[in-house]
Amino acid sequence: MTAITLALAAIALVPAPQKMSVTDGAFTTNLTVTCARDEKIPAEGYRLKVEADGVKVWSSDDAGRFYAGETLKQLTEKGKCPLVEIEDAPRYKWRGVHFDDCRHFFGKETLKKTINVMSQYKFNVLHWHLTDDQGWRLDVPGYPDLVKYGAVRRASPKHGARMMRNPDGTSSMALDGQAYGPFFYTEADIREVVAYAAERHVRIVPEIELPGHVFAALAAYPEFACNPENLAARSPRLIWGVEQDVLCVGNDRAIRFMEDVLDYVCRVFPSEVIHIGGDECPRKRWESCPKCQKRIRDERLGDTKNLQAWATRHFVEFLFARGKRTIGWDEYLLGEGIPATAMGMSWRLGETASTGHGWLSPAELAAKGHDVVMTPMSACYLDYRQELEDDPFEYIGGVVTLAQCHAADFCAGVPQELRKHILGGQGNNWSEYTWNQYDLEWKMWPRACALAEALWCGERKPAFADFVRRMKVHRKRLTAQGVNCAPVE
Ligand code: ACM
Ligand code: ZN
Repeated sequence: MTAITLALAAIALVPAPQKMSVTDGAFTTNLTVTCARDEKIPAEGYRLKVEADGVKVWSSDDAGRFYAGETLKQLTEKGKCPLVEIEDAPRYKWRGVHFDDCRHFFGKETLKKTINVMSQYKFNVLHWHLTDDQGWRLDVPGYPDLVKYGAVRRASPKHGARMMRNPDGTSSMALDGQAYGPFFYTEADIREVVAYAAERHVRIVPEIELPGHVFAALAAYPEFACNPENLAARSPRLIWGVEQDVLCVGNDRAIRFMEDVLDYVCRVFPSEVIHIGGDECPRKRWESCPKCQKRIRDERLGDTKNLQAWATRHFVEFLFARGKRTIGWDEYLLGEGIPATAMGMSWRLGETASTGHGWLSPAELAAKGHDVVMTPMSACYLDYRQELEDDPFEYIGGVVTLAQCHAADFCAGVPQELRKHILGGQGNNWSEYTWNQYDLEWKMWPRACALAEALWCGERKPAFADFVRRMKVHRKRLTAQGVNCAPVE
């Protein structure tokens, strides 16, 4: 065994640190911490020395000092800490978790608890999915109907119901007949969550989906749809899956509405990156909409694919002018003329979207100059089954085991010279089949810990068996914190 494997065999740190030496069998109870700056230490990295007479920490930034503290907490049991020296820094700078408050709403206490646990595993991004076909969760000044209609679903799929395909190509699910909501966040809630996250060095990246996945907004403002008559029920979509009614991007008032929403988002979220969705946008309504067809003619776009690219470019530039960069699901970068400053979130590695629009691989995105965050369905979709025996919870389908999460290689298939564009990755907690906090935590932990290790360690990640040994200790710690962590094997 190498020195590092020996050391790790005695101590359960997740994610594993880069370099660690241990003075075997020696402990201290003097946990007085002295911090110093060392500009040579990489961003978010730290050096930690636990000696008999106290603890010394060096870092070049506050995040590094915070992570040294988290490592120290993991090392310390019953007031005793082994004498160690650690040098540590992350491989990737985007270490994220995605949180879907639209299909099911979890609320700020669950969110804060999640952020707190994330920060213990050195995650630094929470991608907050706030708007979708099934719910709109932001109270935007000047648009009171967004929460009046968009935050209340008239009914939802029954617990245990599955999606059925009808002969005419539509889908149906058995419904529960109960109103769900109103559930949304006020500005004070957002500021509270953002501040709570910032204290733990977690940046909140909000997602406002456009131009598809906007049915809940259209329920509030049907005039921003190509076919307002389809929104007569004034409710978000009742079942899971993708709505055909999308933003009428030929309508200047609909564009202004989204600008107002994004202006508000820029005001309340300090993140320099804003997610604008862009996935699974059906273009059928645009084909027969006079306003959308006029936009295609006026702007010489040729077809509805380029109409989506026009809308994307518009909002990318709108946000750029406000000092923000956008990120979106990979296909939002399919069209022409979108600036390279726009970032892509890669979620498919070969699978086609349900809308059949195609996709861009991380290598293709990087070759076009876009920075990329990896969240492939094959390793990062935490709503997929984890293949546990006797699992009491429902999943959307597919399989992502703990081992698959740990094996995630975020640069796979990307040529060496383009790897600088791969910023990191994240686990996605889509919530169609996730009903509450206990369900969410079970799906998230320990798999998110495995992703945290893949993101922090990169190529120097220890073997899966070693992770499993350490994770068993951490499951006990998570359980003691009241986190509903699933079994490790
Ligand atoms: C996605 O899963 N639709 C990004
Ligand atoms: Zn239209």
